[in-house]
Amino acid sequence: MKLFIETLGCAMNSRDSEHMIAELTEKEGYEVVADFRDADLILINTCSVREKPVSKLFSELGVFNKRKKPDAKIGVCGCTASHLGEEIIKRAPYVNFVLGARNVSKISEIIHKDRAVEIDINYDESEFAFNDFRTSPYKAFINISIGCDKSCTYCIVPKTRGDEVSIPDGLIINEAKKAVDAGAKEVFLLGQNVNNYGRRFSGEHEKVNFSELLRRLSKIEGLERIRFTSPHPFHMDDEFIEEFAKNPKICKSMHMPLQSGSTKVLKDMKRGYTKEWFLNRVEKLRTECPEVSISTDIIVAFPGESDEDFLDSLDVMRQVRFNQIFSFKYSARPETEAEHFTNTVDEEVASHRLTALQTLHTEILDEINATSLGKIYRVYFEDLVQDFYVSGRSDDNIVIKVKGSDELLGEFRDVKITSIGRTILTGEVVA
Ligand code: 5AD
Ligand code: SF4
Repeated sequence: MKLFIETLGCAMNSRDSEHMIAELTEKEGYEVVADFRDADLILINTCSVREKPVSKLFSELGVFNKRKKPDAKIGVCGCTASHLGEEIIKRAPYVNFVLGARNVSKISEIIHKDRAVEIDINYDESEFAFNDFRTSPYKAFINISIGCDKSCTYCIVPKTRGDEVSIPDGLIINEAKKAVDAGAKEVFLLGQNVNNYGRRFSGEHEKVNFSELLRRLSKIEGLERIRFTSPHPFHMDDEFIEEFAKNPKICKSMHMPLQSGSTKVLKDMKRGYTKEWFLNRVEKLRTECPEVSISTDIIVAFPGESDEDFLDSLDVMRQVRFNQIFSFKYSARPETEAEHFTNTVDEEVASHRLTALQTLHTEILDEINATSLGKIYRVYFEDLVQDFYVSGRSDDNIVIKVKGSDELLGEFRDVKITSIGRTILTGEVVA
């Protein structure tokens, strides 16, 4: 039996897809194929964070239905499955089942049912032992929590992934050890709010916070790099920043989702921090760890965002000089508080702000990148890319490629930068 799976959205969804592939290949004998027309089972692992991908889903489902093998089943999984549920089968009656983002562990049961909908957001799979499957042998994605306890007014995720539950640290450490034994030198910890780790476990568990989890993981022999996403600026206490800075196994790249630089907008978003707190945390981080690179998420044109509020976002951009930004126009989402806010920003103003923000960031990035020429970075190689190049990441998360072949994969090398592009630097191995 052949399985085709399309994954949209965040790293969490990618890991959920890996879990579903593991269950289906180990328990049900499936084999993954690259073309949906060859598949007996087609899965779409959806994202609902903004409106666009949701509307695309139905046109895509139509295409799958038209061109698939006659008996092939179609399943819709992930965040849009959680929030639309039954509605998906009403709008696309050929869909065989709908499986929510918090019900991934039921994949091998639901494929045998017809028109089934499993979208219980209170379902607790924090201790479910999934089978093994990893897309990359070099880097292991590991979930450390499920769900999200925040109530950001723009965000649908708490409605699609439910309350936050931490995965017991013993299970996380076991996963990491297994991955390292299989050859991975890097682990990438995943959660909606990783530095809130340990707030709630589903059973009795000793008190272990995120800093302690990092300390425990870093004792694993053969594990050389630890990355994680996403931390929340509100929970960036001194203990966390100091552990980040002094633990040599933790990669020096921090994602700090700003969302807005205006304290007023942050309050309307219910982010729990001010512009000043955010800048204070950046300062603390840069003092403890001068080499850190910082990335962020920013939303423009949140309801009520004035020109002045937007200037605050630009101001934070100028002060922090982020190494990478992910920027979005606000998109109203069902079942969120902000959906009911009436002071919406004009679409044209929103587009203008997004362009202004991105233009400023491009200027900053060009200046940052120009300083990289001739510098030497320690690169962990992970992918073969076009024209006989191999690419990997520096400790501070810059994508770097060199001429080479698969003998570099899974290896660390010192690389001197010889030319600069916006998303990738090119260099040569010097040691
Ligand atoms: N509109 C626009 N962007 C959003 N994000 C989350 N919800 C929305 C929304 N309703 C962005 C945030 C988040 C990233 C994953 O997506 O910036 O950090
Ligand atoms: Fe990930 Fe959020 Fe999209 Fe769900 S809605 S896939 S949690 S980005």
